[in-house]
Amino acid sequence: KDYTILVTRQIPEAGLEILKKNFKNVIVNTKNRNLTHNELIKKVKGVDAILCLLSDKIDSEVISNMDRCKVISNYAVGFNNIDIDEATKHGIIVTNTPGVLTDATADLTWALILAVTRRIVEADKFLRKGKFKGWAPTLLLGTELAGKTLGIIGAGRIGTAVGLRAKGFKMKVLYFNTNRNETLEEEVGAKKVSFETLLKNSDIITIHVPLTPKTKHLIGEKEIKLMKKTSYLINTSRGEVIDEKALIKALKSGRIAGAGLDVFEQEPFVPKELIELDNVVLTPHIGSATVEARTKMAIMAAESIVKVLSGKIPANVVNSEVLKVIKLKTC
Ligand code: GLV
Ligand code: GLV
Repeated sequence: KDYTILVTRQIPEAGLEILKKNFKNVIVNTKNRNLTHNELIKKVKGVDAILCLLSDKIDSEVISNMDRCKVISNYAVGFNNIDIDEATKHGIIVTNTPGVLTDATADLTWALILAVTRRIVEADKFLRKGKFKGWAPTLLLGTELAGKTLGIIGAGRIGTAVGLRAKGFKMKVLYFNTNRNETLEEEVGAKKVSFETLLKNSDIITIHVPLTPKTKHLIGEKEIKLMKKTSYLINTSRGEVIDEKALIKALKSGRIAGAGLDVFEQEPFVPKELIELDNVVLTPHIGSATVEARTKMAIMAAESIVKVLSGKIPANVVNSEVLKVIKLKTC
């Protein structure tokens, strides 16, 4: 069909193929960098759909330049990069990619848990520096997971997948969530507790909430003070959920034992203080970075566009209120 689609960055071919098969004009940003805000503002004009990244800030200024866009398909499960209310006002459907990156993100969460508790990065650096002079009884001692308590903040798809993996490590599981999670309770004997109880009783705390005004700085100085001195904090959700300054202070003073972070408050900026600390493991927002997940995300994001532009409503619409607006428009 005669539609124009903007893809803001090269994504796996499987997704592009779907778009090219269905639409005449598929514009892909082939530069080895994200589009700037100004480029976005210019490029969204005249396009019928946009496939964008979590690192593209789709704010009201960008949206007000969308003169014919019907769908914003976010190549991510989180959609805090998009001004959802503004999109809804403009009658634009917003979709995300839930489900397909759950296992990849849960795996990375465990990679960080194991890396920080067993000091893997420190140990690797130690060896490469030629410091390994033979097995020693007290070399690089870490913390054992068996019998310890994992505290999950946000027991949605990813939080559940993380919790289910705790069984293999013989950990107890606590979770903080609005609703009860029967899967976690039945499969791993997890207990639903208050936020404060979770903070006070967990040895590893892992965050799996979306970023919203309510979850911004959910973990700050006050919350860290409730945590055990021996505890570790893991974040594979969004950086802004933690007050990074407060966390750095706690890590430096030994108020908590360590942290595993895949996300940061002002990506791609990572504070020098974090980089200089030995008790943190840092990864560059790679939660969903497996060939499998990224391919499925590309297919899902492309199919959402095909569905909307052929008049169907995809299951993964994040602003379902828009459907009322669209109906009003057509009658
Ligand atoms: C990754 O952070 C995502 O939201 O998909
Ligand atoms: C996101 O996919 C979640 O529900 O955890």
